[in-house]
Amino acid sequence: MSKRVAVIGAGPSGTAALRAFQSAKEKGADIPEIVCFEKQDDWGGLWNYTWRTGLDEYGEPVHCSMYRYLWSNGPKEGLEFADYTFEEHFGKPIASYPPRAVLFDYIKGRMDKAGVRDWIKFRHVVRRVTFDDGTKKFTVVVQDLTNDKELIEEFDYVVCASGHFSTPNVPEFPGFDVFGGRVLHAHDFRDALEFKGKDILIIGTSYSAEDIGSQCWKYGCKSVTVAHRTAPMGFKWPDNWQEVPLLERVDATTAYFKDGSSKKIDAIILCTGYLHHFPFMEEKLRLRTANRLATADLYKGVVWVDNPQLFYLGMQDQWFTFNMFDAQAWYVRDIILGRISVPDRAARAKDVKERVAAEDRCEDAHDAIVYQGDYVKELIAETDYPSFDVDGACEAFFQWKDHKKKDIMGFRNNGYRSVMTGTMAPAHHTPWKDALDDSLESYLQTKPGAAAE
Ligand SMILES: Cc1cc2nc3c(=O)[nH]c(=O)nc-3n(C[C@H](O)[C@H](O)[C@H](O)COP(=O)(O)OP(=O)(O)OC[C@H]3O[C@@H](n4cnc5c(N)ncnc54)[C@H](O)[C@@H]3O)c2cc1C
Ligand SMILES: NC(=O)c1ccc[n+]([C@@H]2O[C@H](COP(=O)([O-])OP(=O)(O)OC[C@H]3O[C@@H](n4cnc5c(N)ncnc54)[C@H](OP(=O)(O)O)[C@@H]3O)[C@@H](O)[C@H]2O)c1
Repeated sequence: MSKRVAVIGAGPSGTAALRAFQSAKEKGADIPEIVCFEKQDDWGGLWNYTWRTGLDEYGEPVHCSMYRYLWSNGPKEGLEFADYTFEEHFGKPIASYPPRAVLFDYIKGRMDKAGVRDWIKFRHVVRRVTFDDGTKKFTVVVQDLTNDKELIEEFDYVVCASGHFSTPNVPEFPGFDVFGGRVLHAHDFRDALEFKGKDILIIGTSYSAEDIGSQCWKYGCKSVTVAHRTAPMGFKWPDNWQEVPLLERVDATTAYFKDGSSKKIDAIILCTGYLHHFPFMEEKLRLRTANRLATADLYKGVVWVDNPQLFYLGMQDQWFTFNMFDAQAWYVRDIILGRISVPDRAARAKDVKERVAAEDRCEDAHDAIVYQGDYVKELIAETDYPSFDVDGACEAFFQWKDHKKKDIMGFRNNGYRSVMTGTMAPAHHTPWKDALDDSLESYLQTKPGAAAE
């Protein structure tokens, strides 16, 4: 095949695309030339941790939004690759909420096995993607950061997998300019020990708020105050937590909230989410969407409605992650290989509209999980991605939600059954709140045969 495909990003979504093509090649298919551009020096995307914040050594925005001591916030049984199980990688069953380093190792293991590292140009940042309606080709302008050289190449297809949890959404509140402590976004949070003994204020009520607050609590902050715009999280928090209405203003030392209450604080952490940000895409190719399950303008959640030679992977809000990215990558691969046909623009737009309406009919998290599970099923039914029990994975998510409701600081002590191997995860050797060492070596010392709680 003489066609060329550019993949932007080598995180879980971009590497899913590489693995999808490699798997087709392994089975004898004629595949196009794949060139993946990754601005970091390794694969893994957000899971590739760095201590850096702000700009990196080349002056590029740091991609990493993860932090020290981060453990999976959902059961690993919901994200397991269908073609590469945790048991295959680690050689034994492991507990259900691995720390970042363990998941990073798992992601890398699958890709090492696929043997496609040389398809990736590391330290290459995509600067500009344009499409010529006449030649029907993309021009991709890339900067080789190490050699400070510019590459301009033509491609038949572009797969954008650059992630959407890296460019912070940073609202401002009155008084931030006079506040005497640190104001930071979750994207720049790295080590909870910085906040030991401190009174912290968190703005936002989603996963970053919950987890960064929990980290700070675990590593000894004095108190956590969480301010909500819409509704409190409502978990049974420890005694030194409180949930309050939104921040109205702050002065040098004190935060004042909408209900008239106030609290002396040392630091403010904005857990206010991220922006879908694709400055390198020319306007007619640029995805603009809210962080939701049914993204705007993507047929089947992946094909750019206005140009079916352009694909976006992983742009949805995420219950399912790694195996959903796989489902998408296999689907996109099969479009590029001509195995799946894409309907006309009107049908593509109709598909998006229907997906948005279906998501809008979801009433709660349970419905949303089922919605995304059905989406994963829909895609894998059309490709040779190994079929798996998606309903079983949804069940793990339902149990997870229940476990959080019962014990927000203890939910990670539970275990779930793998839908890929049928194995029940063993309990971790130490309850999450006491497990201060999050290294891979420490985590893998799971007691043999220990039953999950
Ligand atoms: C704090 C945090 C914790 C999370 N925890 C979990 C969890 O516990 N479990 C879970 O399943 N999911 C979690 N997630 C969700 C996460 O989005 C996915 O797990 C996954 O990393 C998404 O993969 P991705 O490849 O789509 O994007 P990313 O992981 O963001 O990877 C995108 C890649 O594209 C590269 N890139 C970006 N722009 C360019 C460019 N212009 N040129 C070249 N390369 C570029 C980046 O360097 C990066 O390597 C978490 C997210 C955050 C922010
Ligand atoms: N492994 C882990 O433990 C872990 C940890 C952190 C994050 N994550 C992942 O990271 C991803 C992003 O999560 P996230 O929590 O950062 O983002 P998010 O889910 O998009 O949530 C954004 C939050 O910010 C609030 N917000 C936005 N603008 C605001 C404003 N102007 N004023 C007040 N509040 C505002 C929103 O409030 P409203 O509800 O009012 O809109 C919402 O609570 C998720 O996929 C999550 O799973 C995982």
